[in-house]
Amino acid sequence: MKNSSEDLATIADVEKLVAAFYAQAMEDELIGLFFTKAVPLKLEEHLPKIVKFWSTILLDTNDYRDNPMLKHIALSQKMKIQESHMTRWLSLWKSTIDNLYEGPKADLAKSRSEQIGILMLRKIRMSEAF
Ligand code: HEM
Repeated sequence: MKNSSEDLATIADVEKLVAAFYAQAMEDELIGLFFTKAVPLKLEEHLPKIVKFWSTILLDTNDYRDNPMLKHIALSQKMKIQESHMTRWLSLWKSTIDNLYEGPKADLAKSRSEQIGILMLRKIRMSEAF
């Protein structure tokens, strides 16, 4: 459901975005198995962490303290994360944002995902060298 082109402004907005993204990502033919097979996620435990991660970036809530890079390095050891997977993750994330929100925070959510995704893939590849 489109938010009449409003920007992300509250934690409830981030919750809605994250839920919409995971609903699609888990069903995705290219990346779905990461969430259902490599690490079968319990969404009621996982989504609050993702909401904290994005709220920290977008709304300065400053309540995410974990290390997503290490989690994805471990994930890629179970099921290798290829560039095509990252490209799909990022395009799904960005299209989910575009379907729901519009404005500076929506732009920030897209640009930060791109930066983090590129860095993540680089760190994963570096970790494989050892
Ligand atoms: C191919 C791309 C990606 C895949 C398949 C993927 C998949 C996953 C999976 C399966 C988990 C759960 C890991 C676990 O609990 O052990 C996870 C956690 C997470 N992912 Fe990703 N991810 C991808 C890219 C990204 C990107 C680009 C971001 C951020 C921009 C991101 C942010 C996070 C965060 C914040 C967590 C939670 C880590 C924690 O438990 O604190 N992911 N991801």
